[in-house]
Amino acid sequence: MNEIKAPKGTHDVFPPEIGKWQHLENAIRSYYGRFLYQEIRTPLFEHSELFSRGIGGETEVVQKEMYTFSDKSDRSLTLRPENTAAVVRAVIENNLIETMAPLRFYYFGPMFRYDKPQKGRYRQFHQYGIEVLGDDSPQVDAEVIFAAVDFLRELGIAQVQLELNSVGCPSCRPAYLEVLRQAARAEGERLCADCRRKIDGNPLRIFDCKQHACGEAARRFPVIGDHLCAECGEHFAAVRATLSWMNVPFELNPRLVRGLDYYTKTAFEVTSGQLGAQNALLGGGRYNSLVRELGGPDLAGIGFAAGMERIILHLEHLEPPAPRPLFVAYGESQWLAHAVQLAQVLRKEGYPVYVDYQGRNLKKQFKKADRIAAAFTLVLAADEVESGSVSVKNMASQQQSKIHLKDLNEWLKKNY
Ligand code: HAM
Repeated sequence: MNEIKAPKGTHDVFPPEIGKWQHLENAIRSYYGRFLYQEIRTPLFEHSELFSRGIGGETEVVQKEMYTFSDKSDRSLTLRPENTAAVVRAVIENNLIETMAPLRFYYFGPMFRYDKPQKGRYRQFHQYGIEVLGDDSPQVDAEVIFAAVDFLRELGIAQVQLELNSVGCPSCRPAYLEVLRQAARAEGERLCADCRRKIDGNPLRIFDCKQHACGEAARRFPVIGDHLCAECGEHFAAVRATLSWMNVPFELNPRLVRGLDYYTKTAFEVTSGQLGAQNALLGGGRYNSLVRELGGPDLAGIGFAAGMERIILHLEHLEPPAPRPLFVAYGESQWLAHAVQLAQVLRKEGYPVYVDYQGRNLKKQFKKADRIAAAFTLVLAADEVESGSVSVKNMASQQQSKIHLKDLNEWLKKNY
């Protein structure tokens, strides 16, 4: 029979690699807790409309990358391609605006996009991210950006570039889009058919096009920075000033538009030279219209999300501590009950403990103890059981001592 393989663009994670994931997850909890973010978990699938309305019907993500299916009651559902729209939906639906303060969330988990798989790009990938709702001050933008970059620094990822832009708001963007449309129309056939189609919808999406000619044309286009309204201009200046106080270096990129349509004002991306083509470690920005767009009140939002696989690729140096188990061995099967009970006591004390139940002789049990890299093997045989003790062998030094059971805990505290 044919072997069944994991679907293209997905992967299994197992030891020792899983240690890096656990390290990263623990670090996220501890770091973002310091800024009063609390964890939120949303479903892996949502009504498709949440994403088409939230992310924008013109985006590559909605047009080409969603895993959309009908369930048995003919509802259109989509595996979440990102989590911001879902967090906003959850906040509105559960009335967290009234009941929770501050409205600060972190999350991590799998996302799904029908992308072309390559190094750092998958169809099931993982993101961690944070979202702040209900605060439109430019200082919060800077704090979110600081918390994105400083966390990477704490993980030991220092060689990163932060790019920053403002993409305007509903007061200034329509006029800019008109100027952009005119410039795009003037390019005529130099733009690919896909981009020509985007001119009337959302011409900002032309900036995402990977075609060389479209990229060249985009370099000639007017930039939003020259068309910001006074409020967006002042907001952006204050974000930059706060980043300077916080000692966060950044580069202005007037063509950074992000791939999702919900952004307003501040937009940012962090890239790393180590990643090759898929160089974005994280991206985010403000989304002051999204809560209203999804049926909630007029509430500002800002956040970012990072690709966890891409972060893990930077943690090659990290060697998570390997477990050092205790192996409880028994001379003959009649001592198995003693072995099981000793294992229970030791696990209660917090030690990782393994017992081999296959009734094999002591030599084979010692071999197994070596295979699982046990720190100590504790042997129970007639002698030990009669004297209420256990023989403890240090597997590295091969030294063996007989310890009375009532002294074992103290002994392990000193020697483990
Ligand atoms: P995004 O830029 O689409 O933003 O994704 C954020 C990050 O997810 C990317 O920078 C990248 O590291 C990772 N990523 C995206 N697609 C893939 C993939 N196919 N394989 C591996 N990693 C991938 C968002 O998703 C927004 N929700 C971010 C946000 C939060 N904005 C405001 N709040």
